[in-house]
Amino acid sequence: MIPKHVTLVEVGPRDGLQNEKAPVDAATKIELVHLLQAAGLREIEVTSYVSPKWVPQMADNAQVMRGVQRLPGVRYSVLTPNLKGFEAAIADPAIRPDEIVVFGAASEAFSQRNINCSIAESIERFRPVVEAAHANAIKVRCAVSVALGCPYQGEVTPDEVERVVRLMKDIGVDHCGIADTIGVGTPKRAQAALERALKHFPIDQVSGHFHDTYGQALGNIYACLEMGIHTFDASVAGLGGCPYAKGATGNVGTEDVLFMLNGLGIETGIDIDKLIDAAAFISNALGRKPVSRSGNALLAKRAAKAEAAPA
Ligand code: HMG
Ligand code: MG
Repeated sequence: MIPKHVTLVEVGPRDGLQNEKAPVDAATKIELVHLLQAAGLREIEVTSYVSPKWVPQMADNAQVMRGVQRLPGVRYSVLTPNLKGFEAAIADPAIRPDEIVVFGAASEAFSQRNINCSIAESIERFRPVVEAAHANAIKVRCAVSVALGCPYQGEVTPDEVERVVRLMKDIGVDHCGIADTIGVGTPKRAQAALERALKHFPIDQVSGHFHDTYGQALGNIYACLEMGIHTFDASVAGLGGCPYAKGATGNVGTEDVLFMLNGLGIETGIDIDKLIDAAAFISNALGRKPVSRSGNALLAKRAAKAEAAPA
């Protein structure tokens, strides 16, 4: 049964902007978060507390968190790969995130490239982070990267995905996100990977994170909806990629997912016109058109309407 309600986790400010070559200033990132929450997004991944040498775009993490005027009912999350990142994220109570994300990989090769350690070592790094987060009443989500294919290893099996899912469960992670980092997954393979997450986490605590490199993301999301999965990450304007997965494009565009969900009569609480405002804002700031198909189509429709309106 396809769910009646779906939660979209907006990851554009983090997964999207982490990959931009030219600096994006903190004020632009903050305004993007404001527009996204105004559109009705209730879960927003704002930034990451990672090494600024590895990902310079996220070096302004605390500044961005400080600038966001939070709305009640919105969950603001940040990536923290280790205790150093977690401690920075909670150092100032005024900018404490509601949720943190630890990110591991289903392949050893990607783990080394992305976070500079083996899968087993990453779990040992995450363990105290999970404990510290829970001690501070902060929820922990995990991302299992390259779950449907790895740029270095190639094919990744559901068994390899399940191994990491189980390790994440063992250390007490609350929510498990299965990520197709390079967008090579197809619907049956997406289902096979998500099924492994469902063996260890309840369906309310499982989500799909699909990059759209090969145009498969909406098909994969639909396949997951058929399994009853009702939480998906998405990125406004289809921003992004991963600095350690060359050629991978952004997450599926939030407006592409929303257009499909609206067509299916699935509630999200998100206003597509206001979401398009956010897509237009960040696209103008970056000086390019959105990557999302619906974003471009709806902006073109808006422009045509404005042209036709009497002066
Ligand atoms: P490392 O070099 O192995 O760590 O990096 P280290 O402990 O040896 O420390 C080396 C230096 O980094 C030291 O500084 C530390 O202080 C500093 P130095 O003494 O050289 O000046 N450092 C930090 N600085 C700030 N914040 C921290 C931190 N930790 C250490 N938290 C580390 C290990 C994980 C930090 C590094 O590999 C890293 O930052 N990697 C970045 C990974 C990343 O952000 N990738 C993109 C996000 S994941 C993603 O996009 C996938 C996802 O979307 C799902 C999907 O699609 O798959 C989530
Ligand atoms: Mg990603």
